Amino acid sequence: MRSLFAGAAIVAALLALPAAAAAKRAPADEQVLNIGHRGASGLAPEHTFPSYDLALKQGADYIEQDLQQASDGTLVVIHDATLDRTARGPVENCTGLVSDKTLEQLKTCDVGSWFNERYPENAREEYVGLEIPTLDEVLARYRKRTNYYIETKNPEDADRMEERLITLLDEYKLLRPAADRWQVLIQSFSPDSLLRVQALEPELPLIQLFFGSETSETIQARLDAVAEYAVGIGPSKADVDAALVEAAHERCLDIHPYTVNESAEMRDLIDVGVDGMFTNFPARLDEVLGKDAVGGKHAAKRAADAQADCVAGS
Ligand code: G3P
Ligand code: CA
Repeated sequence: MRSLFAGAAIVAALLALPAAAAAKRAPADEQVLNIGHRGASGLAPEHTFPSYDLALKQGADYIEQDLQQASDGTLVVIHDATLDRTARGPVENCTGLVSDKTLEQLKTCDVGSWFNERYPENAREEYVGLEIPTLDEVLARYRKRTNYYIETKNPEDADRMEERLITLLDEYKLLRPAADRWQVLIQSFSPDSLLRVQALEPELPLIQLFFGSETSETIQARLDAVAEYAVGIGPSKADVDAALVEAAHERCLDIHPYTVNESAEMRDLIDVGVDGMFTNFPARLDEVLGKDAVGGKHAAKRAADAQADCVAGS
């Protein structure tokens, strides 16, 4: 156990620091979360089981899900509001808005073949015919074996998306692990959507995303408000600078930029102090982070504890 004398010395040292520095994490907690953006979507078709499996094999601490809602209310995992970019199949089922289709229609679509056409160097026969997964199917496959970073997409156009999401997390007994150890992080560009989640489940950890049209300065101007409900922010990587990192950390907000695919830019962002990043290539980030990186559940738990400690100490 740490001695009282040592504890008093640490408190005295912290009191001697300016407020901003005192709010920063202890170096031991300065790990960086590896978030598989749409899985390992640089090497496999985004938001498919092969993409998620590969991300986890390559060292991702989290797999990301972008949620859209089918016309019957089913939550499905696909990035775009429309099917045209990544779906192939019967025109009446696999073009146009996801929200206009039933789950039965969506299940006739192939979301692997587009990848083989677009990226022949990474094409694989087994990607042909891959289905759009429901969130239920994703949670059923991975259960508590990984961490989930779930985005509500177009939540204003979806009836009760947040309620449906929370119901599923409850069914899979993920609400407590989300609150306690960040096994699930909920992200959105929509503050209203995050606030609806919070109204339903106040302890769920939330990440406020910012569009690339913002700047470091415009994001900083919103951080006081964001810190009232979120545990972190997700800016575009181009908007991240030392001032933004410092401003986020002063408010005990983690910072997870998107989408970072080159090793050099990963190193630069780590040097500036980010707490995690979205990448289409989790193996590259894993290599940059090196052998000392704490992985998976332990990484999420440490991040959750560090953020809670920051809030408690500020
Ligand atoms: O969720 C972080 C990042 O994925 C946001 O951009 O368009 O890829 O969902 P997008
Ligand atoms: Ca996303």
